[in-house]
Amino acid sequence: MTKIFLAIGIISSVLFAFACVQKGGEGAGGTTATGGGDTIKVGVYGDMTGQTASFGQSTRNGIQLAVDEINNAGGIDGKKIVLVVEDDQGQPNQATTVMQKMINQDKVQAVLGEVASTNSLAAAPVAQSAKIPMITPSSTNPKVTEVGDYISRVCFIDPFQGSAMAKFAAKSLNAKTAAILGDVNSDYSKGLTQFFEEEFTKQGGRVVTKEAYTQNDPDFKAQLTKIRNLNPDVIYVPGYYSQVGIIARQARELGMNQPLMGGDGWDSPDLFKLGGGALKNAYISNHYSAENPAPEIQNFVKNYKAKFNVVPDSLAALAYDSAKVLADAIKRAGGAGDSVKLKDAINATKDFAGVTGTITLDASRNAVKPAVILEVDPAKPGFTFKETIYPEGMSAPTATTTMTDANSNSMMNGNSMSNSGSMMNTNSMGSNSMNTSSMNSNSMTNGGSNMNSNMMMNSSGSNSMNGNMK
Ligand code: PHE
Repeated sequence: MTKIFLAIGIISSVLFAFACVQKGGEGAGGTTATGGGDTIKVGVYGDMTGQTASFGQSTRNGIQLAVDEINNAGGIDGKKIVLVVEDDQGQPNQATTVMQKMINQDKVQAVLGEVASTNSLAAAPVAQSAKIPMITPSSTNPKVTEVGDYISRVCFIDPFQGSAMAKFAAKSLNAKTAAILGDVNSDYSKGLTQFFEEEFTKQGGRVVTKEAYTQNDPDFKAQLTKIRNLNPDVIYVPGYYSQVGIIARQARELGMNQPLMGGDGWDSPDLFKLGGGALKNAYISNHYSAENPAPEIQNFVKNYKAKFNVVPDSLAALAYDSAKVLADAIKRAGGAGDSVKLKDAINATKDFAGVTGTITLDASRNAVKPAVILEVDPAKPGFTFKETIYPEGMSAPTATTTMTDANSNSMMNGNSMSNSGSMMNTNSMGSNSMNTSSMNSNSMTNGGSNMNSNMMMNSSGSNSMNGNMK
């Protein structure tokens, strides 16, 4: 009996594959895409190997999970997504090469990637000139989407992330002075250095020195010694985990016990292997927290863990969202065959409920979303949610409900937040009183830190507002 089913299975797979080949010409009308057929070909590129390989691997895994969900539910209007995954080893020139290959040889109809802004910047012009939409899940440097209208992202950008951390340093850590230690070859690091300094200065703080390193430096003690002599209140290290772990260890070895601060680039399970206990008293800005109790997020965390045996980092979450946003746009565009239509549909993405928050692309094709501040906890090892910082114009509306009311309260309600920050209570449950004052009304499981709206995105594309505003 089993054998018969197996045989039927094999035969139908063969027939299906044959059908794909036969229908290869479908999907005409696209500017350049010729993939067509019964499948939709999507390219994925990133560093599957190299110094920051967890970036590429988490990204691939997040996309894989999303695509499996989409395909298992029947695909997009009956068409399954097929991924073409390329390893660029984290090298900008390789990123360009694999982008050319995916477009010219594999004939992908859209591309997801890269992670590191420098690599996205290297490859994006190829996609732009071929008119193949590229969505970067996680490159945050503003220049990436400036390449052109075929390039978009589902994450916030670094002026926001850098200033979020500067505000946190000044307001929550009471820092008056800061030193910055950044990677001079990374667009990401250079951008954050600038944006952090601008906001920290605005907050009345002073950056006492800006020190530089490069990805291949094995030792950071010269720069750290200089910083130690200036004794700043905090040290901002806008780099990638591969260097940050070592920097943290060397700083502590030199007797520097100040808070270390960074951005999303610290986010990797491998950070803890490199930095260990030296990562105590450190904070990062990031895109999401895996601790968010919202059911959609916990569901994602559970499914990801079941498949890959690790808690999804923000890269995995953003990658998952990027694939879902792309699928949503393909559906709205009536297929992936017409790249002009597909790009327009992507760029029109509005109120898309992702696991990293509600995704609306602005006129520059950047997602406008809150950032979370997380505390690094080497004992976990992992990150503990501290607070949410909202972009200008997006206030954090509050509710009087508490997290302990989670079953009956607004976590899943329909309160929506408009970009102008005004609140519309569309909650049919009517159980929450919403206002825009800064009140810290939520009790949290982790010792009283405040919960917030970003932690409670619901699946209907609106945010339930249940939080505080700092
Ligand atoms: N934002 C980083 C960059 O642009 C990439 C990154 C995103 C790394 C999220 C880790 C987590 O280079």
